[in-house]
Amino acid sequence: MATLQYQCTMSLDGFIAGPDGDMSWLTGHLGPNPAADRVMERTGALLVGRRTFDGDDPYRGTEHEGEPYGGGWDGPLFVLTHHAPDTPVPGVTFVGDLDGGVAAAGAAAGDGYVGVLGAQVAAQCLDAGVLDEIFVCIAPVLLGDGVRLFDRPGGTEVTLERLGLTEAPGATNLALRVVR
Ligand SMILES: NC(=O)c1ccc[n+]([C@@H]2O[C@H](COP(=O)([O-])OP(=O)(O)OC[C@H]3O[C@@H](n4cnc5c(N)ncnc54)[C@H](OP(=O)(O)O)[C@@H]3O)[C@@H](O)[C@H]2O)c1
Repeated sequence: MATLQYQCTMSLDGFIAGPDGDMSWLTGHLGPNPAADRVMERTGALLVGRRTFDGDDPYRGTEHEGEPYGGGWDGPLFVLTHHAPDTPVPGVTFVGDLDGGVAAAGAAAGDGYVGVLGAQVAAQCLDAGVLDEIFVCIAPVLLGDGVRLFDRPGGTEVTLERLGLTEAPGATNLALRVVR
């Protein structure tokens, strides 16, 4: 059975994107990260929010622009959206509801991780009780404003268990389990 893992890089003040979805800040923190590489190796599918899919790319202007994790990962993408495009996108399945997206990505990932990309999708997975883990790379930067790691107004407390803490030149990685 797959493990649903929210995967992201976060600023120290808790944002995964800057104002208006700006991701240019991440470009300076994309150095080698062996712990993140191990996560990638175990990731069998991605469950992606439409805003992430359409959003800014920290690899903009490079040969890996538009590729998941800047070409560091290859596999099936399941993109959640209420407005699937008319034209198919190779390697991408557009799904119209959370349950369908979780089921399809989970089936594709087998015993590996389903990497959850996008704060809104991650919050829904958490509130639906299907988020298993969080792998967050904390970058030494303050963004001040933008898209929060979790934005759950009126949300309830969630206990997390620390699974691992690793260092990379550009980030401190924290792996956490959602206690249910
Ligand atoms: N720092 C990092 O590591 C990292 C990683 C990933 C993303 N990001 C950034 O985070 C930002 C995006 O996060 P976000 O929270 O704003 O948005 P998001 O979670 O990526 O996408 C939200 C969108 O997904 C669709 N959606 C969500 N739940 C759905 C459901 N249950 N059924 C059907 N469709 C659903 C909707 O799109 P429709 O309106 O099309 O229906 C919704 O507007 C971007 O700026 C991205 O670059 C950063």
